[in-house]
Amino acid sequence: MSTNARARAVVEEMFSENTAFGRTGRKFKTSHTSMPLPACDYVVELADRLGAERTVEIGLGLGVASIFLASRRSEGAAKHVAVDPFQHSIWDAAGLVALELAGLEDDVRLVQRRSEDWLPGLAGQSVRFDLALVDGDHHFEHVLMDLHHLARCLSPGGRIVVDDIHLPSVRGAVGFFVHNLGWRTTARPGLRDDLGRERLLVLEPRDDVDRSWDHFVPFL
Ligand SMILES: C[S@@+](CC[C@H](N)C(=O)[O-])C[C@H]1O[C@@H](n2cnc3c(N)ncnc32)[C@H](O)[C@@H]1O
Repeated sequence: MSTNARARAVVEEMFSENTAFGRTGRKFKTSHTSMPLPACDYVVELADRLGAERTVEIGLGLGVASIFLASRRSEGAAKHVAVDPFQHSIWDAAGLVALELAGLEDDVRLVQRRSEDWLPGLAGQSVRFDLALVDGDHHFEHVLMDLHHLARCLSPGGRIVVDDIHLPSVRGAVGFFVHNLGWRTTARPGLRDDLGRERLLVLEPRDDVDRSWDHFVPFL
């Protein structure tokens, strides 16, 4: 079985059984925390279209999206980083277990830190990502911080995908960048989950906006 087929089989079983297992056998409901399959397929399609070599996900969770993004690496295409401070405490390493089942444990670098602690230091280093997926702490200020810092370490032409765009906190944070910094939403696939909620928005950050020191456009 190819890595991609094995990866898909692992995720499909996680959804069909609606169960993911942690290292010590703890059970989690896949559908409660994971990006649906069509959303993952869309992110991979976008990564392929961009020719993304370096991808990063904020929020590994049960590992679903990371399995898809990391399986691109096995095809020789990508390097994937997943950030999650709670992988061992809250999730009993279930994301890592799923990656192992998919044979992808060596294709993902897990950063066990809060994104708000890890991301600010990156821009000063030469780390650049071609595609970032934001699916960590969904509170307004956290999404705002994730977007602000990720934009600073995105390669030219890179994109940020935001999950759970139906949430007012997430939509509000995105609104700041769209209304104040002219970030473009380059695609809105209209993907919805089982509950009919809109999921993904793709953002194209800009850093060429000339603003006066007191510029501010109310966005909520
Ligand atoms: C909705 S789940 C992510 C699901 C995953 N993207 C998937 O494949 O479907 C949100 C994850 O964000 C993580 N998280 C919460 N706060 C975080 C923070 N400050 N920095 C990074 N990750 C965080 C949680 O531990 C959880 O695993």
